[in-house]
Amino acid sequence: MTTRYPFALIKEKLAARRGAALDFAIGQRRIGLPESIDSWIRANAVLAMKPAGQAEIEAFTEAATDLLRREYGADIAADRILPTPGGRAAMSAFVASILEPGDEVLVTEPGYPSFARLATHRHANLHEAVLDPEHGFAPDLGSALDRDAAPLRVIALNYPNNPTGATLTPETIELLRRVTGTGTIVFNDATYGPLVYDHQPTSLLNENISGDSQIELVELHSFSKLFPIGPIAVSFLAGSEKTMRSVSNYSEFAWSPLSSLQVQATTLCLHDSARLQELREFFPIQLAQLRQTLTDIGFEPYPSPSGIYSICPVPAHIGGKAVTTGAEAAEHLMDDFDLAVVAWDTPQHSYLRFSSLYQPGDLERLAGLRERLQLDWPFPSGSAVHPATVKGNLCWHDRLSGTRFRYCAKRK
Ligand SMILES: Cc1ncc(COP(=O)(O)O)c(C=O)c1O
Repeated sequence: MTTRYPFALIKEKLAARRGAALDFAIGQRRIGLPESIDSWIRANAVLAMKPAGQAEIEAFTEAATDLLRREYGADIAADRILPTPGGRAAMSAFVASILEPGDEVLVTEPGYPSFARLATHRHANLHEAVLDPEHGFAPDLGSALDRDAAPLRVIALNYPNNPTGATLTPETIELLRRVTGTGTIVFNDATYGPLVYDHQPTSLLNENISGDSQIELVELHSFSKLFPIGPIAVSFLAGSEKTMRSVSNYSEFAWSPLSSLQVQATTLCLHDSARLQELREFFPIQLAQLRQTLTDIGFEPYPSPSGIYSICPVPAHIGGKAVTTGAEAAEHLMDDFDLAVVAWDTPQHSYLRFSSLYQPGDLERLAGLRERLQLDWPFPSGSAVHPATVKGNLCWHDRLSGTRFRYCAKRK
């Protein structure tokens, strides 16, 4: 398995350009730590050399249960929380301890790539549920649940979603209630959990959502985007006591103990509700300005009701050159415009993702590319909404008639 982590490749390309490229892929803007946590870490740096003790782990799990109650109204006992060294490490341990070769796993597309990759390494059988741009990026779970094949072992979701910004809808929750297969775990990656802008953040663990369903729910809460305390920031998994114990048993073989510094610093972060509120105010402004600039230069961004990204369908032409996939468009933007974005291609749809972690001044530089970009769509500007690439054809709704009538044009 040789495919690289897409973000590592983009970082290499950006580094080769030595700061000359405009980074809307990952974004250069650093969200600093809250001042009090930053100075606590500096004053206690020596704790990086000491493993966390039991009392510190207990304080962490208490803080995690408080956060789940405060932010999501979910009542989860402390023995159902497992501290983990970062989101990807948490997913690796979960996948390694839960999946057997040949297990059936459902992931969504487009999606953050780690879970699918880790499950592939575990020799699971992967199935993809498309996030449908015409239905607010709801996953097409119906066909996956109605299949006659072996029951799914894991349904891996990511709400709030990267890259689409979609949040969990009542329809999706209703579909999940239909999962009755014994032994199915619904895994939700809630890395962007608190960053929801149009309603209260939701957690699958909240019993209002999970109801009396017999399925097991496991949720990942990772704070690398909210409290950047370094490459091995503590995150946590929350799930049944039994599953948390298996992941924990596995982790004793797989990880060194977490440091006292990591655990104590993250406990401070978990208590800091003011920071979450601050970010819920910061990102919508960043996103609105980004989406305005993208619209001004000719992109057609989808709404961004959560998270930190804006995604757009791939236009037909960029700078006079025909492009069909996100990968092709992103490469052209990097090579000929020094503009870094992330491509997301699925068999049905192609997107470009722009990060709202841009530096002051980056939006003006992006706007300055308008003339050269000459983004081109096969419909008159302003007449269409939500274009999407469907099986190589460009499709869109008619804005003027307001109908769901869909036009399609073969890409040249
Ligand atoms: C949806 C999602 N999950 C997990 C991660 C990785 O989290 P961590 O940096 O804690 O490994 C990211 C990072 O971008 C992400 O977007």
